[in-house]
Amino acid sequence: MGEIRKKLAELDPVWSCIREEGLRTVEAEPLMGGLVHASVLHHETLESALAFRIAQKLASGEMSEQLVREIADAAYRDDPELGKAARADIVAVHERDPACHRLIQPLLFFKGFQAVQAYRVANYLWRCKRWDLAFFFQMRASERFGVDIHPAARIGKGIMIDHAHSIVIGETAVVGDDVSMLHSVTLGGTGKENDDRHPKIADGVLIGAGAKVLGNIRVGHCSRIAAGSVVLKDVPACKTVAGVPARIVGEAGCDHPSMEMDQLLADQV
Ligand SMILES: CC(C)(COP(=O)(O)OP(=O)(O)OC[C@H]1O[C@@H](n2cnc3c(N)ncnc32)[C@H](O)[C@@H]1OP(=O)(O)O)[C@@H](O)C(=O)NCCC(=O)NCCS
Repeated sequence: MGEIRKKLAELDPVWSCIREEGLRTVEAEPLMGGLVHASVLHHETLESALAFRIAQKLASGEMSEQLVREIADAAYRDDPELGKAARADIVAVHERDPACHRLIQPLLFFKGFQAVQAYRVANYLWRCKRWDLAFFFQMRASERFGVDIHPAARIGKGIMIDHAHSIVIGETAVVGDDVSMLHSVTLGGTGKENDDRHPKIADGVLIGAGAKVLGNIRVGHCSRIAAGSVVLKDVPACKTVAGVPARIVGEAGCDHPSMEMDQLLADQV
């Protein structure tokens, strides 16, 4: 038994760690037993646990938990990239959110993580041309989490959305890998462009709370957007921008600000 566990841990360290943490959670707080068993320990794979959790959150009088779960299960079966991205997201949250001490926390408690996984299933449905089901997932994630991501938006892996109130990501937005954003971020249109009208955010960018990035503009890799900024023009790589409208105020200070969540004041150039 010990050998099998060891092999499983080598094959899927994230899921194996979450299960171990689940056992310890129940031991420490028996009142969490029902939730942890249903959401974690009952499942053989992270994908199965995610489908269950998404279904719990998105089901409503309009669509049963059973049906949402079957749709999500099928998505995870059909597209293994969804599960890989979810693992990268869990690790990202654990590495970057100082309030995240265990891998199980995003799955059980963090609505930013749950919303991103709901988006990933919606995006799968969109790619399968099941537009209305995709819109249903978008609507329910928006109602439930306050995170409104168009299913056609393209989002990389290793994403952290912290706090996750009031996030809007538009239809033609593109978000790279290892991007972090705080609450109340908009990646929206200006209202003046049609078709391809939303921002393109490169890898490793940090977007501070309340920032609005508007229009079909490019934010270069590893840049930082200060809290409350309104970004209307391209941002070069590795710069910090701030203000309304946002202007360059410094170097980003490190290669991966989103990963270090480097929100401190850096030396100015
Ligand atoms: C941008 C940020 C990363 C700091 O970057 P920095 O390169 O260290 O920038 P500095 O703080 O040295 O500021 C440079 C200039 O930009 C200004 N500035 C910094 N943040 C600003 C903001 N959010 N809005 C407007 N101006 C800002 C500073 O006042 C300073 O102006 P000055 O040169 O005239 O004095 C940080 O201010 C930030 O916004 N982090 C996001 C934090 C967040 O969202 N927290 C929510 C937690 S729940």
